[in-house]
Amino acid sequence: MRSCIAVALAAASSLAIPSPAQAQTSAIAHGIEVKRGSTIMRVTAIGDAILRVRVAKDGVFPEDASWAVAADVRARTAPVRPTANGFATAAMRVAVDPATLRMTVTDPTGQVITSDTLDPLTIEGKSFTLRKAMPQAEHYFGLGDKTGGLDRRGKSFVDWNTDAFGFSGSDDPIYKSIPFFIGVGGPGGSYGLFLDNSWRSWFDFGHRDANVLAFGAHDGPIDYYLIAGPSTAEVVRRYTDLTGKAPLQAQWALGYQQSRYSYMSADETKAIAARLRSDRIPTDVIWLDIDFQDRNRPFTVNPVTFPDLKGMVGDLGKDGFKVVTITDLHVARAVNQGYRPYDEGAKGDHFVHNPDGSVYVAPVWPGPSVFPDFTRTATRDWYGTLFRKQVDDGIAGAWNDMNEPAIFDTPTKTMPLDIVHRIDGDGFAPRTGTHAELHNVYGMQNTRATYEGLRKLQPNERAFVMTRASYAGGQRYAVTWTGDNSATWDHLKLSVQQIINMGLSGFSYGAADVSGFAGGPSPDLLTRWFEIGAFYPVFRNHSAKGMPRVEPWVDGPQHLAIRRRFIEERYRLMPYLYGLTELNARTGDPILRPVFYDYPSAMTMSCDQSMTFTLGKGLLVAPPPKPESPQAYEICLPAGGWYDYWTGKRAGAAQGDVPGPVQSASQATGDPRTRGDVFTAIPRLDQLPVFVRAGTILPRQPLVQSTAETPAGPLSLDVYPGADCRGDLYADDGHSTAFQSGAFLRQTVRCTVTPKGLTLDFEAPVGRYVPWWKQFAVTVHGWTGASTVSVTGRAIASAPDPAAQTASFTIPAPSAATRITIARR
Ligand code: GLC
Repeated sequence: MRSCIAVALAAASSLAIPSPAQAQTSAIAHGIEVKRGSTIMRVTAIGDAILRVRVAKDGVFPEDASWAVAADVRARTAPVRPTANGFATAAMRVAVDPATLRMTVTDPTGQVITSDTLDPLTIEGKSFTLRKAMPQAEHYFGLGDKTGGLDRRGKSFVDWNTDAFGFSGSDDPIYKSIPFFIGVGGPGGSYGLFLDNSWRSWFDFGHRDANVLAFGAHDGPIDYYLIAGPSTAEVVRRYTDLTGKAPLQAQWALGYQQSRYSYMSADETKAIAARLRSDRIPTDVIWLDIDFQDRNRPFTVNPVTFPDLKGMVGDLGKDGFKVVTITDLHVARAVNQGYRPYDEGAKGDHFVHNPDGSVYVAPVWPGPSVFPDFTRTATRDWYGTLFRKQVDDGIAGAWNDMNEPAIFDTPTKTMPLDIVHRIDGDGFAPRTGTHAELHNVYGMQNTRATYEGLRKLQPNERAFVMTRASYAGGQRYAVTWTGDNSATWDHLKLSVQQIINMGLSGFSYGAADVSGFAGGPSPDLLTRWFEIGAFYPVFRNHSAKGMPRVEPWVDGPQHLAIRRRFIEERYRLMPYLYGLTELNARTGDPILRPVFYDYPSAMTMSCDQSMTFTLGKGLLVAPPPKPESPQAYEICLPAGGWYDYWTGKRAGAAQGDVPGPVQSASQATGDPRTRGDVFTAIPRLDQLPVFVRAGTILPRQPLVQSTAETPAGPLSLDVYPGADCRGDLYADDGHSTAFQSGAFLRQTVRCTVTPKGLTLDFEAPVGRYVPWWKQFAVTVHGWTGASTVSVTGRAIASAPDPAAQTASFTIPAPSAATRITIARR
């Protein structure tokens, strides 16, 4: 079918449209090509809802290559139908004015998804600027970890990976370059735009001109992708089809993680671990920062302070802890000192060069250092082998830091632009490239080397890598955190916005240092940070050398009790959280999301939602937007109905006041199920408002002290009746790749409100993994009165709780499709 259309289009290429400006439009396979003078613009469909736009500035297209989009993805095509001045796919219509190269993309009903301005392209020397119209109602999200609040509208940004210690809430650029944004709220629905260009690039969302969305780069290809929605979720799923899904992480990566720059010795590390256990603070991971190494040299261990790393890791492992160690990308320039990374690297010519051909040397933590040529396949393969000792020592994962790359004692904080790298894959012809071209992908290629190295060393295990710098598509290799934040309330707030935008940019596993790396938090700030951090995709406490300690116990028993309660809640939620990570691996749906991701109507609700987020579709977390202030604030709950997570009772005017921290009745008029609801909440340090969507079946587990422990007792299934009611159970062994060949369990549960009560339908489980649970403890919320519960017609005991408004019962976990009816008596 496709080839027929391609042939038809080839025949149609005689439909060249001459224009007054000597421009010419030709149909080509799966798209069009427009020539105007020496500029050629090629627009092709690589999916029904994904266009690739390439422009040859001087008549010659740059090589078809990419660090972000794999060759087989770039080669995808979709059927297209020629139109007068463009073409149509099943989801988009493309029209290009040959006289100006102005492109307009509409949906099949003619609604504009995005359109260029009248002056869409300027080329000045090697740099270029592209311009699109900016509708009044549109807002912009994505661009990775950038500061400046949640919405990018009215601001401009630069992509240039930067070691940004102590960055402020408006500093730019910082660590990552993810040149991808999503426009939300325009007439044609949400759409995404990804500029696949690794050079220094920039985006201006109406900063210079309120009506113009401009972007460009200082050099490199004009090569961008337009992704139609119409929903934001569809855009993110398609963007991660394009640039890759983040692999499923080991379950321990979702546990609480304790770090510090640095735990200085094995004794100190063991003492921290012992305290975490004796204080009953569930924890999965302890991190070792640079001081565990010998003279800050990557791939070494300090023999005095960590005399038996393997023994220590083994002992901690018996107590349910994993250990992750830092491995910065630089290699100490230790000549003739028996330092394997330098000796092998020098021998194999694995380090980047100065323009004169000598090896580039610059200072970082170990002193004079050299830098692996990560854009070169042979170097990445070699670098990956260096992790063998760590793997043998039982180290669970790698922390790739300083990979912007950071260089000390230089105003630019990084390598000179003329440093020479080698390239030889991903569609690139074997050639050299300057640091100006490769700076923004260097950190990503560092994590690629680490990830692929770990995967080769342990082919049956998932590989955990944490990175500070990256580029689009880097989610295939590493989870990420927001770098050296500060212990301020502003940074707590910023962290949520950064993690939301990273999730929309493909990096679903986002973290921020809980406590704020620099500065030392007040006890209240630290407690709030634990509460909110407990809902981050990756939950790591970390702080800088010389700063006050920030482990959970530091501010005394009252603060510890609150912090522990939230860490414990995260562990109870582990089955839900793990299910979200598995969903992310398959679909790209972020774990932590802006509310409008699943509830577009939230965009127009009146509250300050700059701190509000959802965890999956089911949970809405609503911290105070000014977390430092005791002032009352409004919480907006989108239409559909919600339950208070902590009490299990209906939240909404129709059901009376919300208990817990939410103090006053709804201010909304009309039916909250269709209009949404607005509450006034009064912040309390020991509470964080969390709501459950009516229509959620939430899996939770008995408390454990780490994910290494098997929960004792049934899996809890809390049923919150409402529309489209479902829950998704997922389990596997939590660490190996066996799930890829069927060793998983997936089971969907649905509920339906009936005139007599409720039915609960368990689908038959899929997959061959036998989970830890044998029983389900079901609690139906919003239930008043006595009930009769029957499993496929057979009555079983149930316990109503009028005060809690629940009905509860326990059943053996069904291994076949099973219907349960819960009827009012
Ligand atoms: C960088 C990292 C920080 C780490 C420190 C020492 O500043 O961002 O997290 O603790 O280096 O390795």
